[in-house]
Amino acid sequence: MKNHKPVWLLMIVFLLFPTWGCGVKGDPSRGRFRDSSLSPEERARDLLSYMTIEEKIGQMAMVDRGYLKSPHDIAEYGLGAILSGGGSAPRRNTPESWKEMVDGFQREALGTRLGIPILYGIDAVHGHNNVHGAVIFPHNIGLGATGDPELVERIGRAVAEEVVATGIHWTFAPCVTVPQDERWGRTYEGFGEDPELVARLGAALIRGFQGVPAPESLARPDTILATAKHFVADGGTTGGKDRGDARLTEEELRKVHLRPYVEAVKAGVGSVMVSFSSINGVKMHANRDLIQGVLRGELGFDGLIVSDWAAHTELPGSLEEKLATVINAGVDMIMIPDDYRGFVAAVKSLVEEGVVSRKRIDEAVYRILLTKFRLGLFERPIQEDVDFSMVGSEPHRALAREAVRKSVVLLKNDGGVLPLKKEGTRILVLGDKADDLGVQCGGWTITWQGKRGRVTEGTTILEAIRKAVSDPSLVTHVRRASQLAQVKADVIIVVVGETPYAEMYGDRQDLSLTREDAELIIHASQTGLPVVVVLVSGRPRIITDLLDSMDALLAVWLPGTEGDGIADVLFGDYAPTGKLPFVWPRSMEVLPLTIEESGHHPEKALFPYGYGLSY
Ligand code: GLC
Repeated sequence: MKNHKPVWLLMIVFLLFPTWGCGVKGDPSRGRFRDSSLSPEERARDLLSYMTIEEKIGQMAMVDRGYLKSPHDIAEYGLGAILSGGGSAPRRNTPESWKEMVDGFQREALGTRLGIPILYGIDAVHGHNNVHGAVIFPHNIGLGATGDPELVERIGRAVAEEVVATGIHWTFAPCVTVPQDERWGRTYEGFGEDPELVARLGAALIRGFQGVPAPESLARPDTILATAKHFVADGGTTGGKDRGDARLTEEELRKVHLRPYVEAVKAGVGSVMVSFSSINGVKMHANRDLIQGVLRGELGFDGLIVSDWAAHTELPGSLEEKLATVINAGVDMIMIPDDYRGFVAAVKSLVEEGVVSRKRIDEAVYRILLTKFRLGLFERPIQEDVDFSMVGSEPHRALAREAVRKSVVLLKNDGGVLPLKKEGTRILVLGDKADDLGVQCGGWTITWQGKRGRVTEGTTILEAIRKAVSDPSLVTHVRRASQLAQVKADVIIVVVGETPYAEMYGDRQDLSLTREDAELIIHASQTGLPVVVVLVSGRPRIITDLLDSMDALLAVWLPGTEGDGIADVLFGDYAPTGKLPFVWPRSMEVLPLTIEESGHHPEKALFPYGYGLSY
């Protein structure tokens, strides 16, 4: 006799468990996933079983706050994450406003049927750099010049404290790129061109952000989720073209570009962001072999894999085909970041047509939920009693100053011009970049591209010099060489370098200084006074022909807000220890100039990898 359940019984079941028919459990109010004594893995698996396909797809969507038509759409579409892209800030850019905004979004998410909290991600890549008043640390190239993992870990901790104070718990950092060609606009986001240095410092920054041991440490209220990016070989493209193609042998890929990810995974990094770039003609966002096969399979990465900003749109085909490619390649969460309505509709049809399997959706959503449970977001969706004074705090400024002075590389010091005496020295500071906080901070500062001028709070190089000397009236600042003759001085400090840029806007085919900067140096040298050049740049610049016009040369990279660290070196309060994290090319013609290549042809380098003088 077939076991026919009476119809009335089925009716009751459907009434009690309306979603039961969709292969999901019924009443989530008593779900085991709410039991914080269970492991994140168990909780994620249990919660997944309650979710409808629409709820699952919503979790895979990451949307920039600026594209939300209404905060209520977070609940309407069950969005899994919100981000602030570069410069995407609340109208009032204060820590309090950031916290209020993020908490508001979180409350929308908590109001949904399952109350799954959102992740909120941001590029805190050299401090909490979207937030006005946050301490801006040296960009990674400067940290590479320090070669100091212990310092870098302390910086990670400090940045985490500033990020948490604004209610945020996820940074898209560290960038563990290994730039091989300084023509690339993102060279400064790399610690250096040696994969071992990048691996060491990347792991240190991850420990700083996430605490140890991860993933257990992620649940602490003072830690944030880190992101190793951009997977993989973003810094290996031909000609240093941003989002270009890296022509690599398997050996080069593993020895140079994959190496930092091995250490990042060992350090327990919680998320990985895929690169826009390609390898041997295959877009990384379509590269299932490297994402699923190597990152997941070989390296055993069990965290969250996210796409980069609208990266799926760079793939061929319809929206559905682009999304199917990225999701089936192994990306769990899509940084859409705008059309979330279109995303949800497209992925739903992909699942209905079987182009993306329910199994793949479940895998992706499991990783997303696992990350949220590991972060403790279900117990503490909103950061309670934060300390807003952490943002821009004096201890963090002191730490950044320490990082600045340890990042400075002394490349020339003829006649022992440096260190300068604080007493009685008439100092002429030349060039408008000497008094420009935006220049010191570079890209990814308050806005995506960064910009010149007083973009936030901090100390310019000129201000630092004036603070350091006994009598500030002996320090004169002129912006143009034509003003030189009017000033009596004992030494000239010329500040030259780059104006802010980010990503592809920094790609250059010519790395020589601007004509204006070159003329400042030449006119300064024609005075017959000792000339100290301070070069503010995100990479080595071609200065070969100007070297004889300077008595001393400091490479200070993109030091950030704490210009005092440069004065510490100029006046000998700190003897320089920085070492070049890149080979310094003699000309454009020798690029790309790797460590290995310069070993065979030392004449191609103006200064070798690891070079740096002291007092
Ligand atoms: C950008 C960058 C990536 C950043 C993301 C979000 O295009 O490639 O490094 O994390 O978008 O701002």
